[in-house]
Amino acid sequence: MKQSDQSWWRHGIFYQVYPRSFQDSNADGVGDIAGIIDRLPYLLELGIDALWLSPIFPSPMADFGYDISDYTGVDPLFGTMADFDALIGAVHANGLKLILDLVPNHTSDRHPWFIASRSSRDDAKRDWYIWREPAADGGPPNNWMSEFGGSAWAYDAATRQYYYHAFLAQQPDLNWRNPQLRQAIHDVMRFWLRKGVDGFRVDVIWHLIKDEQFRDNPPNPDFREGQPPHWKVRPLRTTDQPEIHDVIAEMRRVIDEFDARVLIGEIYLPFERLVTYYGKDLAGAHLPFNFALLSAPWHARAIEQIIADYEAALPAGAWPNWVLGNHDRPRVASRVGPAQARVAAMLLLTLRGTPTLYYGDEIGMHQVAIAPDQVRDPFEKNVPGIGMGRDGCRTPMQWNATPYAGFSTVAPWLPLSDDFAQDNVVNLDADQRSILSLYKALIDFRKKSPQLVSGGYVPIAAQGDLLIYRRQGDAAAVVIALNLAAEPVSIASDTFRLDGEILLSSFLDRQGEKIQHVLDLRGNEGVIIGGQRDKS
Ligand code: GLC
Repeated sequence: MKQSDQSWWRHGIFYQVYPRSFQDSNADGVGDIAGIIDRLPYLLELGIDALWLSPIFPSPMADFGYDISDYTGVDPLFGTMADFDALIGAVHANGLKLILDLVPNHTSDRHPWFIASRSSRDDAKRDWYIWREPAADGGPPNNWMSEFGGSAWAYDAATRQYYYHAFLAQQPDLNWRNPQLRQAIHDVMRFWLRKGVDGFRVDVIWHLIKDEQFRDNPPNPDFREGQPPHWKVRPLRTTDQPEIHDVIAEMRRVIDEFDARVLIGEIYLPFERLVTYYGKDLAGAHLPFNFALLSAPWHARAIEQIIADYEAALPAGAWPNWVLGNHDRPRVASRVGPAQARVAAMLLLTLRGTPTLYYGDEIGMHQVAIAPDQVRDPFEKNVPGIGMGRDGCRTPMQWNATPYAGFSTVAPWLPLSDDFAQDNVVNLDADQRSILSLYKALIDFRKKSPQLVSGGYVPIAAQGDLLIYRRQGDAAAVVIALNLAAEPVSIASDTFRLDGEILLSSFLDRQGEKIQHVLDLRGNEGVIIGGQRDKS
């Protein structure tokens, strides 16, 4: 095995596909695996290195695939196992990698394991899930709350106990304290790893172990009306338990039975907790997802502070990563606005660490307004009206200007954005200065720049709306200057040693321009500068 093979997840660029919304190939309004195969040429041209697919497994779709009823199958909605084999063959033939979603925290309530578990208190699989006696008053065993609203405990009348579900009642949590259950999920991992899958993004990995004594969660004094109801308590007993790290180290050993695979964890925690998921001696997740930019205030100083805090928190040898969007959070183009979405792209693709792109962000897709009768997301259905709905960031990919945007030939499962006739891959590809052209230029630039792939990060300035940093390679450096506001700004370039040459502007029109004494940035412009003289 070549060293470079081991490092692909450090050097590559990841791209998340939400399969329901990428490409429909069989005219049912829902995307599928054959559709992803059809669109591989697009991904190759974009220049990404690895695809992560949200779940494609058999599922009643109560949470759109995050409620799995068979871990080693493919849902007919997405195709067949033969389609999957064809996908992995095509992905690898083109030099890309394929990451699957692993959802080990919970199954569907239709999974045979849960059907067995709920059949009797004496069933061999009873302990594979989390069953408790009712409280003295017959109510739920404690105050734990579901992320999708209400108590996290559902009563099973037949066996007169409650089971725990951190999400929907149709998503009972597995009991990770049970050794047989652990084995069973390890075997699921091996099943897909043997098929050649290059790794997993592990769903809600910080949730897997809960307090052994089932103590109440403490109230959250900062809770305000309008926030999701489960924020009323702080999840001290339900997430991020000390024993989680043994569970992850075990998963990592399964990953390490195979060559050059990657373990990515979905974790929403502050940096000092997040970085513990690299594990003792880095024997945990290779990449605990860093979601800080998903909620970052869009101000230079705030972003510089986030980068500094993250860099400082990283354990020695741990590899960083950055995420701008996913299927659970509002689209970046809506969070920061379409003009700043280009600056955000330059930020993501010039920071130190593996970047993960969310499908459609490269064409500037924004949050689509969903009418009440179009809501599909169970989160929004259970907790309506406070902006938690995730449908708006899951709308179909906009490929072209045909009636269903080239996504399908029938009405899709979620509405299309009403701007798709203009903002689609075909049009943006034809426009050499579009956001799509910018993404391609940035990806290409990153690939050719050892400084960006593996150089150090050196902060230079965060003043007003200006964020400047250097990526320092062994031989040379590049400087990135981002204007986070709509007003132009002039920078005395001597002060920051910026003199050199513009290698890339987010407007794609200044390459080769020399900078002497003053760097003028237009509103919403970011530039990458090279060729500085080293005066140190
Ligand atoms: C993760 C997924 C989200 C899902 C939840 C429950 O947060 O990203 O989409 O609803 O887990 O599985």
